[in-house]
Formats: sequence, C-alpha cells, structure tokens
Amino acid sequence: MPEKADLPYRIHALELGPMENFVYVIEDRASARAAVVDPAWEPAAILALAEHHGLQITDLLLTHSHHDHINGIEQLLEAAPNAGVHLLKPEADFWDRQLVNPRLHHGGDRLHLGDTEIRFLHTPGHTPGSACFHLPAGDDLLTGDTLFVFGCGRCDLAGGDPEQMFHTLKDLRTGLPPHTCIHPGHNYAERPNSTLAEEDAGNPFLHFNDKNAFVHYRMHEHDRVRDAPYRPVPRAHPARPHPD
Ligand SMILES: [Fe+2]
Repeated sequence: MPEKADLPYRIHALELGPMENFVYVIEDRASARAAVVDPAWEPAAILALAEHHGLQITDLLLTHSHHDHINGIEQLLEAAPNAGVHLLKPEADFWDRQLVNPRLHHGGDRLHLGDTEIRFLHTPGHTPGSACFHLPAGDDLLTGDTLFVFGCGRCDLAGGDPEQMFHTLKDLRTGLPPHTCIHPGHNYAERPNSTLAEEDAGNPFLHFNDKNAFVHYRMHEHDRVRDAPYRPVPRAHPARPHPD
C-alpha cells in the first residue's frame, strides 16, 4: 500500500471536549479542501487548524447524530456557509432535525473531496444510521462510535441495537483489509488508532461467533467488567465471559 506521504489526503485529529471526542479534518492535498468529521466542542480549534494549513472547509461529515459529535455544526456553518452536511438517510430519519445544506447518503455512496475519495459505510448498531467513512486510497477508516480501539459503541441508548452491531462489526472485519487503520470517535484506549488486524486480535467485541453471546456481553457484561482505557484482550482470554 502507498506510503502516507504519497496519499492524496492527510488526516488531522483533534481531541476535544469533556468526553475525549476525536474530531477529524480530512485534508485533500491537491485542492486544499477539507472535510470535518464530527464537528463538535471547539469550532474555534477546528477553524484554527484549517487556517493553519491553508484549508477551505467544504464539507461536514457526521458519523451519527449524538450531541457530542455534532454540537459545533452551527458555528462551523457560520464560518463555512456553503459546506454540505453529509449523513446517512437512516440517521436523518432517526434524528428528525432540520439541517442546513443536508446531503443524505446511503451505504456505498462515495464523495469526492478533490482527489480524495470517501466511501460511506452504513454501520448500524450504536444508532440506526451510524456511518463509518472509508478512504480507499490509504485504507483509513473513521469509525465514530461504531468501533473503538479495543471497544465498540454502546447499544443501550435510543436507536441502539446490539444485534445490528454484531453484524456491523463482522462486516467491517471481513469486508476491509487487515491493514486498515481505524480512527475512532473517542480516545478510550491507550493509543489513538489501530489496525483492523490488531482489533481482530485484541478487541473482545470481535471475538464472538455467537450473536446471543455478543448481545449479552455488550448489554450486560462489558461495562461492568472493563474500565477505560481499553486494553487489548487476547482471543482466548480465560476471564472473557461467554467464550465461543
Ligand atoms: Fe454516540
């Protein structure tokens, strides 16, 4: 795969707010266009980053509609009034909020940010219309609250569905190359990103073959037995509940 320096894009990460959110700025090198993924918490910091690198914010991408991922939309749109706000249609239906410049997508859609292609994946489970954004040129995956480093998003909030999450995580694991680098929506681990191969080895949510065992672990066990920062859990770890 190409070296990072040869890719058409760069990904800038900002950790912002009281919930360890990651806000990402995808920079298309050739055009100096920028897409902000999950605009929240400190719009001034996001705008300062864009200005520092000479970028024009043309798009806002939402992994999902939770407050901690979207609470900077208005201020960013004040600074970049022509920016399109991209999200999946099932999330817009779930959210039921009037958006300025909404661009509604379905899983599999592609957005071209200059020379940078961004693929929208529909990854329900945390919310009905949660999305991950895949950059095929470098196999980077921005995962929102679907997949964390050695964790995954809660499924007990409104619109959450652990059975959907089980299938979503399986699809991610089997549908993308092992070297895919994941960039999560929160900094809940000891490191900010990892590869799918590392997740396959150390993320307990990827260790279940049985859906019901996964659902039980997600809904009743995980938050009781694990504290952040999340650390890798070996596949055959004897302390893991419900081995399968
Ligand atoms: Fe969330």
